[in-house]
Amino acid sequence: MPDRAVEYRWRGEASDAELVSLVEAHGGRPEPGWWDRIRPVSLGWVTARLPGGALIGFVNVAWDGGDHAFLIDTKVASAHQRQGIATELVAEAVRQATAAGCEWLHVDFEDHLAPFYLSACGFRPTAAGLIHLASAGLSSGLPRSRLSHFWGLA
Ligand SMILES: CC(C)(COP(=O)(O)OP(=O)(O)OC[C@H]1O[C@@H](n2cnc3c(N)ncnc32)[C@H](O)[C@@H]1OP(=O)(O)O)[C@@H](O)C(=O)NCCC(=O)NCCS
Repeated sequence: MPDRAVEYRWRGEASDAELVSLVEAHGGRPEPGWWDRIRPVSLGWVTARLPGGALIGFVNVAWDGGDHAFLIDTKVASAHQRQGIATELVAEAVRQATAAGCEWLHVDFEDHLAPFYLSACGFRPTAAGLIHLASAGLSSGLPRSRLSHFWGLA
C-alpha cells in the first residue's frame, strides 16, 4: 500500500550528496558529481521524502526538447521498497511530462523489472535498440571517414 506520509515533489530540491546516499541506500555504486552534471539538462525529476525530510526515492525525466521524454534512474531506498513508492514517482513523472507537452514517455529496463514498468506503471512493450558505446569502439577505433558521418568532420 502506498505510504500516504511520503511527500512527492516535481523538481523538488535534491542535492548531489543526497543522490549519492540514495544510490548507496538501494545497493548501487554512486558517482559523486553525477546529479550536478545531469540536473541542468533534465526536463524534471520527482523526489520522494519522508516527513522528516530524508530522500527515499527519485526518478529523472530526460527529454529531447520536444515530444519525447525518457524515464531514467528510478530509485527507492531498500528499506522502503515494495510499498508503492516507485509507482507513485513514475505516476507523477507521467503527469508532469504530459503537462510539459511531451507526447511519448520511453523507458528501458532489465527483464526482471517488467512487472514493475509494464504492470504497475502502465508502460506497453515496444521494439527498441541499444548500443553499448563504451565497448563499440566509437571513441577509439572508428576510422575518421566514419566519424565524419556522425559529426560532420571535413
Ligand atoms: C525498481 C525499484 C525502483 C522499485 O521500487 P519500489 O518502490 O519497490 O516499487 P513499487 O513498490 O512501486 O512496486 C510496484 C510493483 O512493481 C513490481 N516490482 C517492484 N519491484 C520489483 C522488482 N525488483 N522485481 C520485480 N517486480 C517488481 C511488483 O509487482 C510491485 O508490486 P508488489 O510489491 O505488490 O509485488 C526499486 O526496486 C529500486 O530502486 N531498485 C534498484 C534500482 C533499480 O534497479 N532501478 C531501476 C532502473 S531501470
